[in-house]
Amino acid sequence: MKNISLRAKLILGFSSIILISAFLSIVTGIRLIGNTIIKQVQVKVRLDLNSAREVYQTECIKIKNSVRLTALRYFIKDAIEKSNTLQLGVELEKIRKNESLDILNIMDKNGRILKGSHHSSNMERNLDNRIIARVLESKINIVSTEIISGENLKNESHELAQRARIRLIPTSKAKSASEKKSGMIIGAASPVFGYGGELIGVLFGGKLINKNFDIVDKVKDTVYRGEKYKGKDVGTVTIFQNDVRISTNVKRSDGRRAIGTRVSQEVYEQVVKKGIPWIGRAFVVNEWYITAYEPLRNLNRKIIGMIYVGMLEAPYKDLKNRVMITFLGIALISVILLSIIAYSTSKKITNPLKKLLFATKKVTEGDFSHKVKISTNDEIGQLTDSFNKMTSELQKVNKKYLILNKNLEKKVREKSIELKKAQDQLIQAEKMTSLGKLSAGIAHEINNPLTSILINAHLISNQLKEKENYKENLDLIIDETSRCSKIVKSLLEFSKQNPTEKNLADINDVIEKTLLLLKNHVLMHKVKIKKDLDTKLPMIMIDMNKIEQVFANVIINAMEAISRQGNLSVNSRLSEDKQFIEINFTDNGIGISEENIGKIFDPFFTTGRQTGTGLGLSISYGIIQQHNGSIHAQSKVGKGTTIIISLPVNKINKKNSKEENNNEI
Ligand SMILES: Nc1ncnc2c1ncn2[C@@H]1O[C@H](COP(=O)(O)OP(=O)(O)OP(=O)(O)O)[C@@H](O)[C@H]1O
Ligand SMILES: [Mg+2]
Repeated sequence: MKNISLRAKLILGFSSIILISAFLSIVTGIRLIGNTIIKQVQVKVRLDLNSAREVYQTECIKIKNSVRLTALRYFIKDAIEKSNTLQLGVELEKIRKNESLDILNIMDKNGRILKGSHHSSNMERNLDNRIIARVLESKINIVSTEIISGENLKNESHELAQRARIRLIPTSKAKSASEKKSGMIIGAASPVFGYGGELIGVLFGGKLINKNFDIVDKVKDTVYRGEKYKGKDVGTVTIFQNDVRISTNVKRSDGRRAIGTRVSQEVYEQVVKKGIPWIGRAFVVNEWYITAYEPLRNLNRKIIGMIYVGMLEAPYKDLKNRVMITFLGIALISVILLSIIAYSTSKKITNPLKKLLFATKKVTEGDFSHKVKISTNDEIGQLTDSFNKMTSELQKVNKKYLILNKNLEKKVREKSIELKKAQDQLIQAEKMTSLGKLSAGIAHEINNPLTSILINAHLISNQLKEKENYKENLDLIIDETSRCSKIVKSLLEFSKQNPTEKNLADINDVIEKTLLLLKNHVLMHKVKIKKDLDTKLPMIMIDMNKIEQVFANVIINAMEAISRQGNLSVNSRLSEDKQFIEINFTDNGIGISEENIGKIFDPFFTTGRQTGTGLGLSISYGIIQQHNGSIHAQSKVGKGTTIIISLPVNKINKKNSKEENNNEI
């Protein structure tokens, strides 16, 4: 179960519930339907048996009344009293036929037959002494069903004996025998009274039931109205003599009435032997019937036969089957529908969970923007909602974290740049300081001898005549010494570290003034100057002379870089953060190689072999440093160079400059 998916588990659970309930309802339903139908039929058969009994009793009463009324007639009294039975036979035969009787006999008060309807009757033999004896004894009308032996019937009439005679037919469930000669009659006897009121005789009338189908067909017609199912009578009625069908409308397979067939052993045992009515299924001749049997008793209450009604089981069985098939169909459709519902329900439960699972995977991969879309309001909907809220929160936190990280990285970068700058400045400052000290010492020592060399050289030169050979050499000495003197002066300038005197000034004015000072230089180098100066620049605290010196250095360098004709553009503007004034000097001169660009601020780095000292930019660098600004170069060989100078605008500038001034002084 552990490895089965949730969906499979749900479907399995649903299906087992559906199948168990379907199985239970089918089993109970089928049993209930079956039992109800069978019970209904049994109740009906019981009622039908009552009807059959009624019809039978009505027939008995009819015979009884016929006999009773006949016994009252005068010609019978006369005939007995006068022992004149001559005409009696004819009269009796007439009445017998009119009343549909098979036997009509008259007896004297001793029970001897005086006259019978069948003249062949043995006068001496008592046809049915039991009923007659009872009438003689009780002087009342009696009717009862009795068995009459074949012999007696023969005595009465050959035709009756023949009708009673039944060849017994063995059936699959009934015992076999050969032939039965006795017959069963409904017999009625009435006392005949003389004119004085004394009993003078008995009138006996009877109807042989054997092969007489009046009663059974009457019951069938009144109760079942000739209803048929697949060509067979639905309802059947039988009168049994003992266990043999002597009057029936149950048909054999050949279509003839099943006279002579016998009841099943179990029914016989229960009804005939034990006298208990039988209600239930029974195999009758060749079909299953829902049957009702009850015993038929004679005057002495002895069971002499049975009366039966039965309804074909087939229509009810078919009905039961049809109902069951319908029921099964409904159950099957219900199972299919429920299965579809179970499937879609499980899908409804697991699909959102799948979406959630997918979303959690996305979250673990770092995608917090993935949202789960579920529109239900149930627990899963709430879970999804919480999940979406959680991812939104995570997304926010993650964003914050990323921003923090970026800021941190930016700060680290900035700090690293600052650090590098500070390091560079420190190195440069150290270089300057040590160089400054060295220069100051050397310059001081060399300056005086150089001056005296120069003065003396000049004196000698003035004293020597123009044409003298020495003069040329002496002038060379003067030139070289002048150059040495210039270097020494620069060194002294460099090492002097004059204190800065800062005042509020307009940087554009300083630029203009420097350009004016260098006017001749500019003209000499045929350089075109382009100015783009921002007129709205704030005033800043600077040492004007020193800044002028820086600008002059930079401009002269540019002009030296432009070999013949060229342009120099000078821009001033406020930086984006309004914290600095930026001054750019851009020339289209020879440019600086990548190798050299890192060295141009180093003291004594020069490419101007003859004229340059290589101190111009390093002095400028020191001055800009003193102003808390920056100077750097961008260049491409053959294209030109831009020198960018930044000077701070804000109050710090003021404050710092004062502090510096103090330090320097
Ligand atoms: N605008 C420029 N274009 C090309 N190279 C330049 C430019 N400015 C400076 N340089 C290079 O930087 C070097 C150092 O300049 P710096 O001003 O310090 O010394 P110099 O000009 O050589 O000598 P001095 O300033 O004493 O006359 C120069 O020799 C030159 O090679
Ligand atoms: Mg220079």
